[in-house]
Amino acid sequence: MSERTPFIVGNWKMYKTVLEAREALTLLRAAVRDINGVDCGVAPPFPVLDACAGVLAGSHIALVGQNLYPEDEGAFTGEVSAPMLKAVGANHVILGHSERRHLFGEDDALIARKVKAAMEHGLVPILCVGETLEQREADETVAVVTSQLSRGLAEVKGGAELSSLVVAYEPVWAIGTGLTATPGQAQKVHGLIRDFLGDFLGPAKAAHIRIQYGGSVKPGNAAELLAEPDIDGALVGGASLDPDSFAAIVEAAAG
Ligand code: PGA
Repeated sequence: MSERTPFIVGNWKMYKTVLEAREALTLLRAAVRDINGVDCGVAPPFPVLDACAGVLAGSHIALVGQNLYPEDEGAFTGEVSAPMLKAVGANHVILGHSERRHLFGEDDALIARKVKAAMEHGLVPILCVGETLEQREADETVAVVTSQLSRGLAEVKGGAELSSLVVAYEPVWAIGTGLTATPGQAQKVHGLIRDFLGDFLGPAKAAHIRIQYGGSVKPGNAAELLAEPDIDGALVGGASLDPDSFAAIVEAAAG
């Protein structure tokens, strides 16, 4: 943990209009101003990114995209490209979120192209992996997470740029359900992800990659999760919508 600064990202999903986003970020900016030793970011919906960039200018809160399409431009109605995200001031992008995989049918091959496009344009991918409840009960967690990682990184295999990766372990059964993996359950998978990255990149590089936990993270459970050696931050959905509760999670990560 010592060699990795914790990284807390709020995933706003499909919440907040421009007005609501401005209000929330103005409060958040003030609330985290004096918290040191932790990186944080917010992933607002696309139509409010520009307004958010304005509020966040000069702050240390990163602007994060929720998704991208892996072409620079073209006839792809409803999609947003990596250069567009970069131009609005985003520096990270969430890819392969379970809602994209399960509600919108994204597969590992598409996610791998997205990871490549993000890296080519200097956006740090936050690659999400995680098993469903059925898969956990069938003892398939290790196989599912390992396969999502190796397939999701297939297009950048061996690339030196991989040190800029962030991985988010989000057990699908814990997202938006109020169920959280216990710190022990989460650490077990995080350790496995670190081992996978060690084989893939070499242990020295793997030691620098931040692995976030996501799934019903709240002010009340953040500290115990973040105390685990391979949990280097959190991807927070519901609790990130309220600036005070998100700031409390950032505070917990600062120790
Ligand atoms: P949650 O969402 O914190 O509301 O469970 C996490 C996520 O989807 O990233």
